[in-house]
Amino acid sequence: MSSEVNQDSPSMRSLRCGEVRPLHVGQRITVCGWVGKRREHGEHLAFVDLRDYTGIVQCVVEGSVDVRSEYVLQIEGTVSARPSGTLNEQLATGEVELHDCVVTVLNAAEPPPFAVDDRVDVDEPVRLKHRYLDLRRPKMQKNLRLRAQVNRAIRGAMDAQDFCEIETPLLWAPTPEGSREFAVPSRLHQGKFYSLPQSPQLAKQLLMVGGFDRYYQIARCLRDEDLRADRQFEFSQLDLECSFVTEQEIRAFVTEAVLDAAEVATGVRPGPVETITWAEAIDQYGTDKPDLRFEMRLVDLSVEFAETEVKAFAAPTVKALRVPGGAEFSRSRLDQLVDRAKSLGAKGLAWFKVTQQEGVLGLESPLDRFLTDTERSALLQQTAATEGDLIVVVADEYRLTCSVLGTLRVDLGGSPVSEGPYRYVWVVDFPLFDGVDAEGRPEAAHHAFTMPHPEDLARLESDPLSVRAQSYDLVLNGWELGSGSIRIHRFDIQQRVFAAMGITAEEAELRFGFLLGAFKFGAPPHGGFAFGIDRLVAIFAGENNIREVIAFPKTQSGADLLTGAPSHLPASQMAELGIRPVPKAT
Ligand code: AMO
Repeated sequence: MSSEVNQDSPSMRSLRCGEVRPLHVGQRITVCGWVGKRREHGEHLAFVDLRDYTGIVQCVVEGSVDVRSEYVLQIEGTVSARPSGTLNEQLATGEVELHDCVVTVLNAAEPPPFAVDDRVDVDEPVRLKHRYLDLRRPKMQKNLRLRAQVNRAIRGAMDAQDFCEIETPLLWAPTPEGSREFAVPSRLHQGKFYSLPQSPQLAKQLLMVGGFDRYYQIARCLRDEDLRADRQFEFSQLDLECSFVTEQEIRAFVTEAVLDAAEVATGVRPGPVETITWAEAIDQYGTDKPDLRFEMRLVDLSVEFAETEVKAFAAPTVKALRVPGGAEFSRSRLDQLVDRAKSLGAKGLAWFKVTQQEGVLGLESPLDRFLTDTERSALLQQTAATEGDLIVVVADEYRLTCSVLGTLRVDLGGSPVSEGPYRYVWVVDFPLFDGVDAEGRPEAAHHAFTMPHPEDLARLESDPLSVRAQSYDLVLNGWELGSGSIRIHRFDIQQRVFAAMGITAEEAELRFGFLLGAFKFGAPPHGGFAFGIDRLVAIFAGENNIREVIAFPKTQSGADLLTGAPSHLPASQMAELGIRPVPKAT
């Protein structure tokens, strides 16, 4: 910071509020900003806290001046050291204040509906209705500036890796990726609609056919889906696609961008990102979004309980989860756990408190007397339980058992997503299909253009659900940051995948004809990835809801409280678009 303030500059201000320091003492400076607090000191002296995005400076204003909260002022004053005993250690400018102030009111303000102060709790609807005031609060300033820093780091990483930034259309054809899309009526082609892209997936694949080799974009994506802490209608992705690359290279490109962003945002560059397979993630953590910040892995006891007499455990899969310290749970807490397991689809949940008597570990549970010694010691040893722990057991079909215990694992051991440490993990080798539809046809786990794993290709027709895909997700603290895959670039393989999914040639032509057409003209082998910038920034900002890192987010019900959107259009505009609302079918 320079000590010399340039008074000759044509600017409205010579320093920003949060920049004034003891090194400026004695200088005449000009600052601009909003009135934070105003405290009267006798009849003709007021202390005015002037705030801009850099912070607050205290101005000692003599004489009568009519300024109130959120008035916009320009103040010229002399920087002075605060009298001893009045220093404010909470403020970066707390050693100084402005004296001999000349105050110019640049604009008046009505009394704000809430104090522009992070320490004041304000209901979210009120914050969103007056978002422009909420944005003045230091926390929102910090979050959105952090977002800008992350974007800059990402762009830097992609540019350094020789990727070319290209913008793709917002008004386009539907993208077959599984989310509901927003439709935009065409005025010139009445009765027809553009789709807003849920991602630039098709465009970026066409760019590969177009020879761009390495493309990226910080892309706005739109999805008409239910909103949650990690979902908005509109969000941003780092979207990338590249040709003539292996899956490992793509993951390395993404890792570089994420680690650069992490370094800029947190000051620490995370170590190498570990990789686990989808099958391991499901087996050990019960989810494809494992939160690795805590241990508590699921333990498979199917073999040990294969011959069990315990009726509740007579199922293809028996899995256990050790809950450290859980032996203290009250009966009603345990009943709640059982209810929670049932609400997740399990038939029930068995629990065992781990006790110790005369140095020997034992189990306390209504089911204990039905266990054989082998089963009891398997439960204790395989889970590595110690006195004071609780072991919960679910027995059912494999996937259901895993998912129920995976959810309980997070319920019992997890912490909010944004709490450190940051644990990144690549989850690889997802299945190509994640189940079948009502007609028994396999449904793509990622999308229909994902390349099957070469080792599994031969089973595409005979056992499609066992085929792995060349697809991968990046997970951070239990949130899916992003996903990607190697795409199918060969027509014969694409036809086989469509056939396995029950998509006829005519249907494929109708839905993705333009992409398949382009692929006939020399599509290079290619693949890509996209991660959610909102999610990444929220975690870095210590926020558990992405709304806190979006300037103008929607509420849970999809409304914009500031503008009132969505709203009716004037009848003339509806007529121009050829749209007439019909009553909603009940
Ligand atoms: P996918 O649909 O998995 O993949 O999306 C990638 C990432 O985008 C973010 N994301 C969202 N963020 C906020 N609100 C939402 N509604 C929302 N939906 C998704 C998530 C998610 O992991 N085209 C593929 C990528 C590819 O294959 O290259 C795609 O979009 O962080």
